[in-house]
Amino acid sequence: MSDTSSPTPKTTASPPTAEAGGQAMWGGRFAAKPADLMQAINVSIGFDRRLAPQDLAGSRAHARMLRNTAVITSEDEAAIQAGLDKVEAEIAAGTFPFREEFEDIHMNVEARLRELIGPAAGRLHTARSRNDQVALDFRLWVRDACDRTIEQLSGLMSALVEKAEPNADSIMPGFTHLQPAQPVTFGHHLMAYVEMFSRDASRFADARRRMNESPLGAAALAGSPFPIDRHATASELGFEGPMRNSLDAVSARDFALEVLAAGSICAINLSRLAEEIVIWMTPQFGFIRLTDAFTTGSSIMPQKKNPDAAELVRAKAGRLLGAFTQLAVVMKGLPLTYSKDMQEDKVPVFEAFDALSLSLAAMVGMVGDLQPNLDRMAAAAGAGFSTATDLADWLVRELGLPFREAHHITGAAVRRAEELGCDLPDLPLGELQKLEARITQGVFAVLTPAASVASRKSFGGAAPDQVRAQIKRWKEILR
Ligand code: ARG
Repeated sequence: MSDTSSPTPKTTASPPTAEAGGQAMWGGRFAAKPADLMQAINVSIGFDRRLAPQDLAGSRAHARMLRNTAVITSEDEAAIQAGLDKVEAEIAAGTFPFREEFEDIHMNVEARLRELIGPAAGRLHTARSRNDQVALDFRLWVRDACDRTIEQLSGLMSALVEKAEPNADSIMPGFTHLQPAQPVTFGHHLMAYVEMFSRDASRFADARRRMNESPLGAAALAGSPFPIDRHATASELGFEGPMRNSLDAVSARDFALEVLAAGSICAINLSRLAEEIVIWMTPQFGFIRLTDAFTTGSSIMPQKKNPDAAELVRAKAGRLLGAFTQLAVVMKGLPLTYSKDMQEDKVPVFEAFDALSLSLAAMVGMVGDLQPNLDRMAAAAGAGFSTATDLADWLVRELGLPFREAHHITGAAVRRAEELGCDLPDLPLGELQKLEARITQGVFAVLTPAASVASRKSFGGAAPDQVRAQIKRWKEILR
């Protein structure tokens, strides 16, 4: 009775079709016990026990539906529900016997149910197979994981917005190629990550919408001869409806691949912020400080304060990508419908979400913890001729030069400043006029980092008012 849904007699008086006991689940066909090695490679209870809450929810909905469609009696259903309550209580109390001889969570629950309520337990698996059961449990678990991740991403976005708000005016260098490019603000920089993480959240929301259909009732692969109501179980379990093809229902795992893809992209985005924290923490940059809460010391070098949490978030991206690859390789080339290979779908997904959840939590902690060193940031923002583009733009705006020509003159000005060992704003007017006679004193007003930032008023630009407008928008969305 493990993976087919065979019609069973209706009354509790008739003998159970299977005994409680490992191989008794399909004992009719088998004379001997499996080899120890068979059990060792087959067993999944060590990891799929995490599906217990989903397995119980699915069984409850299934039993209720079997009674409502008169496939089982209300006495049997009541006994089954009471037994499932006991199982749940045992699991919560830590007294539930998870046993390897029952292979997986589905057979462990059923075996325990039989011990608790007797033969009625054998009716629960009517019109159901472990194939649609595991597809259901796993889908429910992944759906919850999406919800949790979206929740955590909102928390991270809120932490970033909160840190960005008082720093909408805090000048820092913006980089390309990790070379000083143009001044921006720390608030603007942090808000870039809010945009990134919002896309991550929407990827999870999309995946959740797509996966939210119930495989339950597909039974082994072909559906059931019983008058089951798949719409009822689907709606009880919060699905949009039942999956429309029983073969697809038991064999699809693209929903899991999709969230692992979303998770990988999210972990990659996290790793980029983590890397920036690592860079900003170096004494060479000195842009931020993390407190002792999110740093560690060295066992030999007393001066050290290391951003280990950020480094580990950076590294966890490897786990997510590894998990995606792992499941993709398991699924690649599998014919329809269920193959036991698919039992290997769970570990990568569990591990991936454990890593992602920890990374998100650690990142929320670090973002809240980090303190910017505004003087260091401002000083760095002025270095490296970061307002050269502003000079070129001034030449275009005030003197009507073509941008290419302005770019050339500005390049020469930068070279001259470099020769004289000064920054652009400190270049004597006479030097600038040697390159373009019409340059006036007025140019110096645009050469400070603050003026540069204030001028970037285009929508989505670095000007503090633009940044504040985005902060306001996100605060409303995240409230
Ligand atoms: N433990 C199995 C899994 O995770 C449950 C489904 C078993 N189905 C079967 N036909 N053997 O995939």
